[in-house]
Amino acid sequence: EIATLVRDQIPLDRWPQEFFVVADNVRRRDILLSSNLEPGEALRRALAQGPDALLAEVARSGLRGRGGAGFSTARKWEFCRNAPVRESGGRVVVCNADEGEPGTFKDRVLLTLMPDHVFEGMTLAAFTLGAKHGFLYLRGEYRYLRDDLEAVLARRRREGLLGRSILGVEGFDFDIDIHLGAGAYVCGEETALIESLEGKRGVPRIRPPFPVTQGYLGRPTSVNNVETLALATLVAAHGGEAFAKVGTAQSTGTKLLSVSGDCAAPGVYEFPFGVTFSEVLAACGAERPKAVQHGGAAGITIAEREFERRVAFEDAPTAGAFMVFGPSRDMFEAARNFVRFFAHESCGFCTPCRIGTTLLRDLMQKLEAGHGSPLDLAEIERLNHLLHATSHCGLGQAAANPILDGMRKFRPAFDARMMHEDFQPAFDLDASLA
Ligand code: NAI
Repeated sequence: EIATLVRDQIPLDRWPQEFFVVADNVRRRDILLSSNLEPGEALRRALAQGPDALLAEVARSGLRGRGGAGFSTARKWEFCRNAPVRESGGRVVVCNADEGEPGTFKDRVLLTLMPDHVFEGMTLAAFTLGAKHGFLYLRGEYRYLRDDLEAVLARRRREGLLGRSILGVEGFDFDIDIHLGAGAYVCGEETALIESLEGKRGVPRIRPPFPVTQGYLGRPTSVNNVETLALATLVAAHGGEAFAKVGTAQSTGTKLLSVSGDCAAPGVYEFPFGVTFSEVLAACGAERPKAVQHGGAAGITIAEREFERRVAFEDAPTAGAFMVFGPSRDMFEAARNFVRFFAHESCGFCTPCRIGTTLLRDLMQKLEAGHGSPLDLAEIERLNHLLHATSHCGLGQAAANPILDGMRKFRPAFDARMMHEDFQPAFDLDASLA
């Protein structure tokens, strides 16, 4: 599929019209979503070439982590491979399927439609790292997928694609367990996920050490997103060079977007990196959108005047959320909703996040009730600095982003919530002081 795409060099503006096929509310097009590899096809090719060649292909592809942060997959695998292994056990491959970023559902679609690509990606990682053990950490809310995924694993074992001496290669032993999360957003953070795998409360660890050197039970562990692993299968099958020709120089390949909200055709879309927000909005039939929330760490709301920005690590990176807000939406409410979510999901381990997210939520509630003043907005800014500087993990550090983004880009929606002149406090302050 990649080969066809590269040969034809499809211009971006023709992409949506000519290459989308709607099926089951999923937008299929070349590369990942319509890739028809046979189970084992990529693995056979990789085994013939050896682990060094596979790692070189992944490096050549420029593949970067699709969980949002965009760390180089080849470097991660290389670090993990070079990390010394203690006697207590070998290296570990973890597929992070704790998809929890608000507005994302593309990993669920991948696990439903093409689980073989994901498991094969894990097996390829194991081949590169010399790992014998893998986990699929499945979000608790996706537990209904478990039986089907177990059936795929059982078939792969029967076909010699998992288990002992994979595809007859002596010494290449690898198998995968599915581990269910229990609904905690923070367990999508890789070290909290590892704690949870170890049977402990899901609290993020301090990094470094990174999991590549000390992960599951202290062993070198590569934690990769579902989409990253599925793409690694394509890289192994088609070669890194073909992959690198799609997308931009710094963000190669494609990105799955979970498109939802005020648009005619929500669903999972696959676009080459570098696509603009307006191109995605046109493809999904969004009429007069005023904002898109895409969950990028540097700021999560894209306002109308920024719609020519690009989905790419060098511009607007995303874990895959693409929530469209139409003209009638109140962006204050959108920000308030996010903050409620963060306050609810704070794991409670560190004080700045536990208390800070609750204070933010309460301040937004106060504004919502029409009891706010500019001092509250200043307090939100102050809390943001505090949370950013002192929170233990990214959840707290980024918790105020939706409000700050909202205040910067949709100020009238916030100003409209300020205390009105005719506001009457519920009690008589002068009388109570007297
Ligand atoms: P990060 O940039 O700290 O790390 C990214 C990856 O690179 C990790 O696997 C880390 O172990 C590895 N890494 C980084 N530096 C390394 C080094 N020097 N040596 C070895 N490995 C190294 O990002 P983090 O905190 O893991 O994730 C934040 C991202 O997650 C944000 O972009 C955010 O948008 C996204 N996110 C995604 C969610 C989802 O559901 N997919 C949910 C919440 C956040």
